[in-house]
Amino acid sequence: MAGALVRRRSPAALLLHPAAKPVLFLLALLPFSWLFYGAATDQLGANPAEYLIRATGDWTLRFLCITLAVTPLRVITGAPALARFRRMLGLFVYFYVVLHLLSYSWFDMGFEVADIAKDIAKRPFILVGFSGFLLLTPLALTSFNRAVKAMGARRWQALHKLVYLIAGLALLHFFWMRAGKRNFAEVAVYAAIIGVLLGWRLLQFFKKKRAASAAPGPGALSRR
Ligand code: HEM
Repeated sequence: MAGALVRRRSPAALLLHPAAKPVLFLLALLPFSWLFYGAATDQLGANPAEYLIRATGDWTLRFLCITLAVTPLRVITGAPALARFRRMLGLFVYFYVVLHLLSYSWFDMGFEVADIAKDIAKRPFILVGFSGFLLLTPLALTSFNRAVKAMGARRWQALHKLVYLIAGLALLHFFWMRAGKRNFAEVAVYAAIIGVLLGWRLLQFFKKKRAASAAPGPGALSRR
């Protein structure tokens, strides 16, 4: 009897629950909340500025991986509802990269625009990171329904393919930064994750192409 009162929900139904998006939003804000709290209560170690720059860089890369994982997960699990979360996750990549850029501009550069410009020109790993930020900007600006309508789906999709280039730049930025310290363990983990996520897309692309060339053309029946 009591069991009948408990409403069971399938995982797919949970993804469609009205609370799912607000919950994900709050979860995605947790790293920011921790960093804010840690900074306010002086719990970020001996060099809080460096900690903030690095942690915001790490979270940018993590959200980039999570966003890139949505489509493969959606297809593999057969849960189309997962697509509802992709835009929000993508915007969190931008949120964390803006925090990363602001932390660097403030703590490393004292918001001196001329010094920032000189540093970008002088240090290749900063130039690569900054290029990633610049390329992310049009993606964030066109992530809304109105922009999709105004651009048309094809052009919008073509623009959003930039995310693959951004993933490559993010890895190169991280690799270059760690090259000075010869510490590549974490870089290798992210490279493997991004390699699998992009490799899966490439595989899908070739599968579709092969299926399209194997399918009979429009005049196939009449030619029989
Ligand atoms: C797609 C954009 C970007 C991503 C994914 C990204 C990611 C990262 C990552 C993962 C790290 C290393 C953190 C660690 O050691 O744990 C890092 C460090 C850093 N990034 Fe970025 N970043 C991006 C853009 C930028 C931009 C726009 C700037 C500044 C113009 C920048 C400046 C730095 C600096 C100064 C460091 C720390 C270097 C050090 O401590 O020696 N990054 N970034």
